[in-house]
Amino acid sequence: MDKTGTIRLEKENFEFPIIEGTEGERALDTRTLRSKTGCITFDEGYGNTGSCLSDITFIDGENGILRHRGYPIEELAANSSFLETAMLAIYGELPHKSCLNAFRQHVRRNASIHTGMHSHFDGFPSSAHPMAILSSMLNSLGAYYPGMSTNNREQDLAHFDETAALLISKVRTIAAMTYRMKMGMPFVYPADMSYTGNFLHMMFSEPYRQYVDDHGAAKALDLFLMLHADHEQNCSTSTVRMVASGGANLFASVSAGVCALWGPSHGGANMAVIQMLEEIHAAGDDGSRFIEAAKKGEAKLMGFGHRVYKNYDPRARILGKSAESVLESVGIKDPLLDIARKLEQAALEDDYFVSRKLYPNVDFYSGIILKAIGIPVEMFTVMFAIGRMPGWIANWKEIAENPKSRIHRPRQIYTGKTLREYVPIDKR
Ligand code: SDX
Repeated sequence: MDKTGTIRLEKENFEFPIIEGTEGERALDTRTLRSKTGCITFDEGYGNTGSCLSDITFIDGENGILRHRGYPIEELAANSSFLETAMLAIYGELPHKSCLNAFRQHVRRNASIHTGMHSHFDGFPSSAHPMAILSSMLNSLGAYYPGMSTNNREQDLAHFDETAALLISKVRTIAAMTYRMKMGMPFVYPADMSYTGNFLHMMFSEPYRQYVDDHGAAKALDLFLMLHADHEQNCSTSTVRMVASGGANLFASVSAGVCALWGPSHGGANMAVIQMLEEIHAAGDDGSRFIEAAKKGEAKLMGFGHRVYKNYDPRARILGKSAESVLESVGIKDPLLDIARKLEQAALEDDYFVSRKLYPNVDFYSGIILKAIGIPVEMFTVMFAIGRMPGWIANWKEIAENPKSRIHRPRQIYTGKTLREYVPIDKR
């Protein structure tokens, strides 16, 4: 017998089906709520609202569990790679060796950017934020692939594999070109290298000297990107789904995702954490003022807290360990790591954070790794976007392939002025 839930409004009971996911999560199916009761739900921030059914990622926030297509993030971090995890998120299975190699070649072949786009960078001031450039360039990219950005679902899906590989490859090239433009340096053309090796080459090689990765930077960056690959219905992924739900192509959808990721409450936090740690280091204090400010409600402790995790973010645990090994292989002792560790300990011993179940999230340690690799702080959120690209693509695909998917159009409760007559200007 199908399970149902009852809502009682005034003197009447209304039954609604209960949807149960494969991990036992339950939802009251309120798709007929308004037609049956005349009422809507109100859930500002959507903390209690499911926007979709999805097979890609499962998070158990209470227990700090994250799985992509059933595989625990800890196992993927220990055994997989960014491109393999990207394929898993997008296509649903760990790829056979031949498929992964073909995908790798596909990505390598797509590393260059149409020379027509090189001049687009001239249109930005060198002070432009890299996320503004990235979002614009991703949307412009669609103009060079009209057959893949038709906004006709069937046509766009027919080219999906090509578009997915192209976006995963070129988001990295655009990021590196953005950095070079901002630094006033010539673009470095992609080479026949690994995904992250090529990125570091395009970022840091010079016409007279090839970048040499002699300290495991490519490997550390691959882990960083893998840990950011997908995270169910976060702000930016929900934005991608929102845009996709209107039938927009993948380029437009991920371009919107970049904008949603930019803010300090979301992907922008990784930059804010490093800025906070550097401020503490410069002041030579213990950073307790940031904890006090958080407790007074004056500011959030950046890199802490999460809408879903009410336990340690498993990615933060892995990144915290990776930060130590990256610093060791780079041969630098970054005081920011010690500061972060002490700040974490102080917060996790403070009732304000403990009572609200606020733990370090993915952004708390990630910047220390990027800094050790030599990525400038201003590029940190762009790095998050490169990592999240597969997740955005996978979520766009879920919407595009679902013939029953509906445009995302939430309701509201109007609280403005009630009916009134227009007043001619000379009578106001
Ligand atoms: C990411 O959603 C995802 O999956 C995102 C992400 C992904 O992979 O896509 O995981 C990536 O965006 C991680 C989060 C990065 N942002 C930050 O580190 C910024 C700092 N964190 C906060 O802004 C906040 O924790 C959010 C935005 C992450 C979550 O906000 P919520 O869900 O609205 O917070 P909440 O309702 O759970 O807060 C409960 C209480 C509130 O206090 P009270 O009203 O109960 O007194 O905890 C407080 C909040 O004010 N609180 C914090 C805090 N986070 C929540 N207080 C101080 N510092 C914080 N960081």
